[in-house]
Amino acid sequence: MGKKVTVVGAGFYGSTTAQRLAEYDVFDTVVITDIVEGKPAGLALDLNQSRAIEGFETKVVGVTTGPNGEGYEAIEGSDVVVITAGLPRKPGMSRMDLLETNAKIVRQVAENVAKYAPSAVVIVVSNPLDEMTALAQLATQFPKNRVLGQAGMLDTARFSNFVAEALNVPVASVRTLTLGSHGDTMVPVPSKSTVNGKPLRDAMPAEQIEELVVKTRNGGAEVVALLKTGSAYYAPSAAAARMAKAVAEDSGEVMPVCAWVDGEYGISGVYLGVEAEIGAEGVKRVVETDLDADERASLLEAAEAVRAKQGDISSM
Ligand code: LAC
Repeated sequence: MGKKVTVVGAGFYGSTTAQRLAEYDVFDTVVITDIVEGKPAGLALDLNQSRAIEGFETKVVGVTTGPNGEGYEAIEGSDVVVITAGLPRKPGMSRMDLLETNAKIVRQVAENVAKYAPSAVVIVVSNPLDEMTALAQLATQFPKNRVLGQAGMLDTARFSNFVAEALNVPVASVRTLTLGSHGDTMVPVPSKSTVNGKPLRDAMPAEQIEELVVKTRNGGAEVVALLKTGSAYYAPSAAAARMAKAVAEDSGEVMPVCAWVDGEYGISGVYLGVEAEIGAEGVKRVVETDLDADERASLLEAAEAVRAKQGDISSM
């Protein structure tokens, strides 16, 4: 049967994700939904009109949804649902400042997803990411492997871009890794980072790596400060769309994602940025990689910071 993916939220993040998913031409249907009247239908019409030029057969359907689940029938049968609903940051805000507002939105969306697409894999991108992913799992009551969050791929891509720019080398020659939270306790992993297969640590001094680590951690905020309204969406949607594709194709690709960690790294019972094998059932397996002692300590710290916040969300 043909594959179907839904993107909830037709802001810039949602619409660029829908565009990338349609252009992959691996889905029969891309559904895009929003609470704004007309907007998702307008975007769908526009995207469908690009089919003849871009050469994809995927059909895009845009639906306006209501507070009591009106319109959600359109998502029935979705293999994957990407939740982008919620507010983005304004300049000066941390992702955590969005917690209460976005918790209400994400909970309502997740409940409707559970009702209308009960066998979907859910990919959450709303912020604060780790907490919203945990909330979506609570609200859907889906098995934990079927709910995951997008952030590690984005943060890793930012780190790779900064390294490539600093060394003036092709970005394709750079491999980096970012684990931990999508926030203050993000854990870039220099020990696993390479340039042309050689350790990053041999390619630049420790102070410069640290500078790029800080730049990576602030990668989203830097974009928000420049845009003034809204937050990043090109790199974020690239990451989310790749994850949805990996699910649809049951590819088994290993990606840094926000996944339920239960025992790996000695960490249990928390949604956290780790590497995981992605397939039709969501997370097939969390992949534990060797870390330096300090990177491991930072990851434990991130886990405890996220756990403290995730405890609060059950009441939101
Ligand atoms: C960012 C937002 C989307 O990092 O979390 O750009």
